[in-house]
Amino acid sequence: MNSLPAADRVLLLGANGQLGSEFRALLEGRCELTALTRAEAEFSQPEQIRRVVRELRPTVILNAAAYTAVDKAESEPELAALVNAATPAALAEEAARYGGLLVHYSTDYVFDGAKTGAWLEDDATGPLNVYGRTKLAGERAIAEAGGRHLIFRTSWVFAPHGKNFLLTMLRLGRERDRLTIVADQHGAPTSARAIARATMEVLGKLRGKLRGEEAASPSSWSGVYHMSCAGETTWHGFAQAIMDGCADLLDGKRPEVVPIPGAQYPTPARRPTNSVMDNGKLLRRFGVALPHWREALGEAVVQLRQDRLQRDPGTVSR
Ligand SMILES: NC(=O)c1ccc[n+]([C@@H]2O[C@H](COP(=O)([O-])OP(=O)(O)OC[C@H]3O[C@@H](n4cnc5c(N)ncnc54)[C@H](OP(=O)(O)O)[C@@H]3O)[C@@H](O)[C@H]2O)c1
Repeated sequence: MNSLPAADRVLLLGANGQLGSEFRALLEGRCELTALTRAEAEFSQPEQIRRVVRELRPTVILNAAAYTAVDKAESEPELAALVNAATPAALAEEAARYGGLLVHYSTDYVFDGAKTGAWLEDDATGPLNVYGRTKLAGERAIAEAGGRHLIFRTSWVFAPHGKNFLLTMLRLGRERDRLTIVADQHGAPTSARAIARATMEVLGKLRGKLRGEEAASPSSWSGVYHMSCAGETTWHGFAQAIMDGCADLLDGKRPEVVPIPGAQYPTPARRPTNSVMDNGKLLRRFGVALPHWREALGEAVVQLRQDRLQRDPGTVSR
């Protein structure tokens, strides 16, 4: 289920990011994979990316590259727009020329957070920050290109590697006795591994269609899908779960996790108070569901323990 047939040529972009690294781990040796990092495929240069696609003509493009620095984007809107919208548009246009499938990722931050209850794919968008606006522009440009595409909106991504809330909390937890964490923003932490696996499941379901009856024309399954872990929490709830589940990774510290309102933690970019997404469309269309975020967190923590044991075999783990 996790592999594509050998005949599929897969181009992975952003291969060193959280999601890109998980795709590499899943796909290396299992399909004809070209995995390019930022050094090899720079998204601020759309023409360079066009050339890569023209040369390779991949069956599937997995675009895991993105400008994800939400606060920094406020002061670099042009670069964020190039990486999150202009180059994904170029990818979609090139793929549409020969019938390639573009798999792209977007964000819960396309919403303004004002809804009570979980967001549906066709709810009105209203991003509060530059990052969300550029990701939304990317979604629209990909759809306008008219080719086959899957856009998976995900949220609060974490992994045992890369830059993310889980690793930041573990570092701060080792340094401090008290952490103040925002408790009035609701969302679903989602592991990069769960996203990569779910993507492969969807592609497995589509395999016949990519070759068969729908190969020639943009099809009914192209479009936007929500793809986040099950359940929901706040940043405070996520932080508390990390501290509870990682006591052995905190070098003996047991920091207090104190809830605060977002107003007490001002950031350059505004964030939605509710960005919980409804994943029903993904389940109905493809029969795919992601695990609960607590389960995904547990799996990442197991990996962190294994990584630590490898680095330092003398460490006692439980
Ligand atoms: N992270 C989240 O919390 C979150 C939430 C919702 C949605 N998403 C979406 O999920 C997808 C995967 O995100 P992620 O968490 O895996 O992000 P990530 O860990 O930040 O990885 C993004 C990758 O894009 C690369 N990149 C950045 N600027 C680039 C440029 N100018 N040219 C080429 N590559 C560039 C980065 O390279 P370097 O490492 O070299 O900078 C990195 O490898 C993205 O579409 C993101 O918008 C993420």
